[in-house]
Amino acid sequence: MNANYVMVLVIAMAATGVLMVHGAEGAEYVVGDDLGWTIPPHGAADFESWASYHSLTVDDILVFKFAAGEQDLAFVSKEDFLTCNTANPFHVFDNQTTFKFLSKVRFFCTSTFAGNCFKGQKVVVDMGPAVDSTGDISPSPSPSSAEAS
Ligand SMILES: *[C@@H]1O[C@H](CO)[C@@H](O)[C@H](O)[C@H]1NC(C)=O
Repeated sequence: MNANYVMVLVIAMAATGVLMVHGAEGAEYVVGDDLGWTIPPHGAADFESWASYHSLTVDDILVFKFAAGEQDLAFVSKEDFLTCNTANPFHVFDNQTTFKFLSKVRFFCTSTFAGNCFKGQKVVVDMGPAVDSTGDISPSPSPSSAEAS
């Protein structure tokens, strides 16, 4: 991954209110806990219940755990999330990725692997109130160095 690409990605991620980070600080959550980021045994309900019993706040660290080649992680629009359309993701990560929330946002995650979304590999990460109708978010400054892993 070349440096220019990383910068573009970091800027894009900051615009969505999250930042990729190295190392842990603050509360760290693994999406799906022991399950990790995979097709859940009980379908989407598994990630829904994970999301419902963790209340995430700004500065928390979120880890999507998976092996490169076995899964991927895609950020998609709400509409695409609901219909499992993975043709136009905002971003796709090929390897496990750690994010830090910079502001209260809601984002929609799934996998572009064929059928995985329909099998329940999808989660809404909700950082508090829904983004307002303008979609306006103001990422707070962070001392963390932004870098793709
Ligand atoms: C994926 O990430 C892990 C952990 O950071 C790393 O050990 C591995 O080399 C990465 N794999 C690829 C294909 O980049």
